[in-house]
Amino acid sequence: MFKIVSIPGDGIGPEVVASAIRVIDALAEKHGLEFSIEEHLFGGASYDAHGEMLTDETLDACKNCDAVLLGAVGGPKWENLSHDKKPEAALLKLRKELGLFANLRPAKVYDALVDASSLKPEILSGTDFMVIRELTGGIYFGQPRGYDETRGWNTMVYERYEVERIARLAFDAAMKRKKRLVSIDKANVLECSQFWRNIVHEVHGDYPEVELLDMYVDNAAMQIVRDPKQFDVIVTKNLFGDILSDISGMITGSLGMLPSASIGTSHALYEPIHGSAPDIAGRNKANPIATVASVAMMFEHTFCMKNIADEIYAAIEKTLAGGLRTADIANPEDRAVSTTEITDAIVSNLKAS
Ligand code: IPM
Ligand code: MN
Repeated sequence: MFKIVSIPGDGIGPEVVASAIRVIDALAEKHGLEFSIEEHLFGGASYDAHGEMLTDETLDACKNCDAVLLGAVGGPKWENLSHDKKPEAALLKLRKELGLFANLRPAKVYDALVDASSLKPEILSGTDFMVIRELTGGIYFGQPRGYDETRGWNTMVYERYEVERIARLAFDAAMKRKKRLVSIDKANVLECSQFWRNIVHEVHGDYPEVELLDMYVDNAAMQIVRDPKQFDVIVTKNLFGDILSDISGMITGSLGMLPSASIGTSHALYEPIHGSAPDIAGRNKANPIATVASVAMMFEHTFCMKNIADEIYAAIEKTLAGGLRTADIANPEDRAVSTTEITDAIVSNLKAS
């Protein structure tokens, strides 16, 4: 029995999580697996109910399950709250409390969607890399931090163990792929980055089969749009990873397609990369594929069932190849299908496989 905590959250979160749960139910039936899925409040929905974005109850539930499935959090309604009350602060607290130090964001182009990107098809086609972002350290969490009337300040700091463990995870990921790792930093300017680089090279000693390349973050931003196929696995610090994973996601054609996994030593959280899209919330228009693909990552990383993860990806690909498109990925001349319709198709493709 696997225990999943689902956090639909705000905006389109509840709709895309509902789709993902239908996929989990279908897989449970098909493979004779048992899941318990317990729903909890987080973000704006929790604030409205309890005056807090992240209650102890939700946090405890997340600590006592095998995997968390998150939809999306935030929206205009909660944007003007003070810094420490915002949904962003709650998300950072959740990551930190669960020890989710590694964030995996695949940038993979679906053949059926090559034309949806702002890059030329010949540059993009075949792109398939993984951005591994350090998630619980660096400038996001460094002390001291603050601002007053005359200055604002943050601190970028990495401890040796933090760099070692993310580097190790990235080398392990590279070993399972094409054995090419690019570590991205700003070692020409930041001491903290030189430290990062030194440690990544130390860890490389244990992975002689992996080809390691260092790249400055500004050059990396350029290389990702110039020739994305050159990358296999990227490992980088929290802030750089935040930025580069958006660029990497965007070039694939739709953020609505990309999943993510945040993993630590004893907990894991899976969520689509896109936000809560309040403008289309509640209208059965959202693209559930990123959340469904996040379930695939859950099967691979938490349940260690790579074969089922592959089944999910295949069902998504088959659905797209059949021509079904939600509004975010539809051509202007095509009729866009609803969240429910595309979910129906994914589920029936799964059952048929
Ligand atoms: C992300 C988001 C978050 C981040 C925000 C919402 C705190 O942009 O998951 O990439 O900066 O990490
Ligand atoms: Mn981001």
